[in-house]
Amino acid sequence: MNKQIVPEHIAIIMDGNGRWAKKRFLPRNMGHRAGANTLLKIVKHAAELGVKYITAYAFSTENWKRSDDEVSGLMKLFSEYLVKERENFIKNGVKLLISGRRERVPQELLDVIDETVNMTKGCENITLNIAFNYGGRAEIVDAINRAMQAGEVEMSEDKFAEYLYNQIPDPELLIRTSGEMRISNFLLWQIAYSEIYVTDVLWPDFNEEDLEKAIEVYQNRDRRFGGVKNEK
Ligand code: FPP
Repeated sequence: MNKQIVPEHIAIIMDGNGRWAKKRFLPRNMGHRAGANTLLKIVKHAAELGVKYITAYAFSTENWKRSDDEVSGLMKLFSEYLVKERENFIKNGVKLLISGRRERVPQELLDVIDETVNMTKGCENITLNIAFNYGGRAEIVDAINRAMQAGEVEMSEDKFAEYLYNQIPDPELLIRTSGEMRISNFLLWQIAYSEIYVTDVLWPDFNEEDLEKAIEVYQNRDRRFGGVKNEK
């Protein structure tokens, strides 16, 4: 891996927590707990490599269909995680952002999210954008509604991007763990030109070496942006 050309923004579909737990005869929520620890490890290593943004898919607008037990477990995990990690975020320069809808999310979790976003807003080492209650189509529809409410009459791509949940650069690399070849309604607008890397590794097992391998594969891709070879 060439440390001089790491992607500025990596998006991650953290899939396979359930299968990881099942293999160990553990409840699914234990897989999510292990996955949350993996995310901490990966953000730390990404920051060391010079990555400036990580967007991680933690809960989709479709995940409400899971059992009450799993949904409430994920809400509780996220809240505990933020309370436990916020001091470390500040110490390590991790700025928290959230992408997603607020509706249906318990008020107590929204308060913890808002506090943590506020506490870390001056952090500059890396931005951790957690997609929570997130759907790519929902984000586009929400952006359209906000633009109409603001009285916009004509759109451009740049102007439209101002109405998305967060104004950060598009990811150059999208990683999906656990082998599924799907986008699953993640960052539909932002991944227009992202390189996609899928690995069979289950998210809780994904480690620093796997991250470097994904970056190395990305570095060996020929990114043409619709142009011809070696031309950007
Ligand atoms: C997909 O695996 C994963 C999720 C739906 C949740 C992702 C959440 C975490 C990694 C932890 C929470 C993060 C934070 C920041 C607290 P799956 O359950 O669909 O796995 P499976 O396909 O093997 O069943």
